[in-house]
Amino acid sequence: MKTLLVTGGAGFIGANFIHYWLKKYPDDQLIALDALTYAGNMENLAPVQDNPHFTFVHGNIGDQLLVESLLEKHKVTTLVHFAAESHVDRSISGPDEFIETNIIGTYSLLKAAKQVWIDTPASKGEKPISHRFHHVSTDEVYGTLSATDLAFTEQTAYAPNSPYSASKAASDHLVRAYHHTYGLSVTTSNCSNNYGPYHFPEKLIPLVIINILHNKALPIYGDGMQIRDWLYVEDHAYGIDLVINKGLVGETYNIGGNNEWANINIVKAVRQLIEKAFIDDQALAKKYPDAQAAIAQNTESLITYVTDRPGHDRRYAIDATKTRDELGYEPRESFETGIAKTVHWYLNNEVWWQAVMNGSYRDWVEKQYVSN
Ligand code: NAD
Ligand code: DAU
Repeated sequence: MKTLLVTGGAGFIGANFIHYWLKKYPDDQLIALDALTYAGNMENLAPVQDNPHFTFVHGNIGDQLLVESLLEKHKVTTLVHFAAESHVDRSISGPDEFIETNIIGTYSLLKAAKQVWIDTPASKGEKPISHRFHHVSTDEVYGTLSATDLAFTEQTAYAPNSPYSASKAASDHLVRAYHHTYGLSVTTSNCSNNYGPYHFPEKLIPLVIINILHNKALPIYGDGMQIRDWLYVEDHAYGIDLVINKGLVGETYNIGGNNEWANINIVKAVRQLIEKAFIDDQALAKKYPDAQAAIAQNTESLITYVTDRPGHDRRYAIDATKTRDELGYEPRESFETGIAKTVHWYLNNEVWWQAVMNGSYRDWVEKQYVSN
């Protein structure tokens, strides 16, 4: 039985990771630490709110004393670090929070982990506490590929192009340095684009679904031919599980879906699934009366080409050979089933995304859940 501290546990991937972990390891204890920024949502954790193996703490990863006290009080031996500012467009319009959370926040977490797991025992003449600091990173640190370049491996040189990816790259380097310099037991995973339930609707796939349901334009940056490698979020959680349990300390592992799509084709796949859902289920037209293009089977008309994202990376592709060969990792969800599940999740969970859109969940959070 382990106790894990999961930072960013109220975000998209952190919450999915918590659901995955408690299902697979029901005897473990999970502590989620989250600052509940605009991207954090207690509703993402509603399925585990009554689970005695789960505790939520409202706090900032930059609060070193809080993190130290959590590691000590709960005898945490595994820290899984998801907390970050994660949206590239926001990093372009306002990089400050990205530097603060992704770089300084990660640095603070590393200091707390070193203090509790290495320095405090040493001050008592004891050996370090056996531990793991797992850092969740992104394929964006490797920069951009042309259509014919080989996919990113763990040896690909870092070449981040946005304030977001630069801040993630800096955090990856700090994690590496804390291993080499101080002996902190770290692993890092660099993953491709995730999709699935609880995905915040500023990101491409949920944005397209929700805009179709409101009959709003589907904004396509530039020519729409940028390529991303899409992975169902539960498969990311599975990959992290393997890295934590089987990965070697000090190593980095790429996690990807082997599933490259041009943005315009992802949008087409989502459009077609929604149109089919409206044919299969007549009740959807009543539930979503604004969705005129979906009702008329003409969602293509909503596509609107807009000014490109500055510095937009053309293509990401992950070579996950190392993770497959050393850890036995293969994604378990096909894109066909994963995207269908995702579209249906949004069609069935309008209460979740309506609340996210109008921010009303915040008052409720303050009343219901938040505790230290
Ligand atoms: P998200 O934006 O949905 O969630 C981030 C969470 O971190 C939120 O709950 C937020 O409240 C919390 N948070 C932010 N700043 C904090 C702080 N200072 N202290 C405590 N909590 C804080 O992000 P996500 O998409 O779930 O991404 C999670 C991690 O995975 C990030 O590190 C991201 O870089 C990485 N990643 C994401 C993807 C993807 O496709 N979304 C792919 C690869 C890697
Ligand atoms: O590759 C992993 C990364 O994937 C993660 O590290 C990031 O945290 C995550 O946000 C995601 O970054 P992207 O920038 O790739 O995701 P996003 O959903 O913002 O955009 C996907 C692609 O779609 C990208 O090429 C930009 C484009 N796009 C996006 C939006 C929001 C559009 O064309 N229109 C849009 O409205």
